[in-house]
Amino acid sequence: MAQPPSNVRIFPDREAACRSLASELAGLIRTINSEGRNAVLGLATGNTPIPLYQELIRLHREEDVSFERVTTFNLDEYLGLGRDHPESYWTFMHRQLFDHVDIRAENIHIPSGDPDDIATHCAGYEQAIRDAGGIDFQLLGIGRTGHIGFNEPGSPSDSRTRCIELDPVTRQDAAPAFGGLDAVPTHAITMGCGTILEARRIGLLAFGEKKASIVREAIEGPVTPQVSASFLQKHPDATFYLDRPAAADL
Ligand code: F6R
Repeated sequence: MAQPPSNVRIFPDREAACRSLASELAGLIRTINSEGRNAVLGLATGNTPIPLYQELIRLHREEDVSFERVTTFNLDEYLGLGRDHPESYWTFMHRQLFDHVDIRAENIHIPSGDPDDIATHCAGYEQAIRDAGGIDFQLLGIGRTGHIGFNEPGSPSDSRTRCIELDPVTRQDAAPAFGGLDAVPTHAITMGCGTILEARRIGLLAFGEKKASIVREAIEGPVTPQVSASFLQKHPDATFYLDRPAAADL
């Protein structure tokens, strides 16, 4: 591998990557809180950030990192799933992080999987992000389609929070968790690429050899709506946190 670009950090394993990012986030929360305001974090679900959330819980328990003045906005939610559904991202986030730290319930934002009116709900989500002062740090994973959030191929760089049809590859990847493809929702609500790119800083986590080829496309390929993660090349402060297998094709 030639020298990776400066916005790519390669770690021996996913735990090391997550320790580094968790410590960065703890520092960011403290700095922003010391300025007298809430830190605004954009959060992701999926398998990738689980070790990060475990490390944040450890920092909360053992090193006094507080989430009392943290506001969160999650990237997405499956359409058709109520909060209580075991595979909803609402359930995921509470189980993996929120139930274990001192975040205030009113500071948690996750798109609804069963809104009365989708367009009104999406516009309200955008407004809530603006009202919070914008996102200080947006955490991302990457799907095998190159999606960030659920911005599947074809998502424009200026897209906003909206309903999107999930790519067949994305649904297939979710099938084991849902006990089969038929149970996987066909649509989701996702922050748009434009919403994500407005975050002041962005960190994308990718682990494992299955992500290597799409990680290469995102970092070294053309900037294209066919790979929404490639838009990060245009962001002034976006970093990729990779383990060695995910970086293998760079
Ligand atoms: C989840 C999200 C998705 C995932 C991506 C990777 O909120 O927005 O973009 O980050 O599908 O999922 P995992 O981590 O399960 O490979």
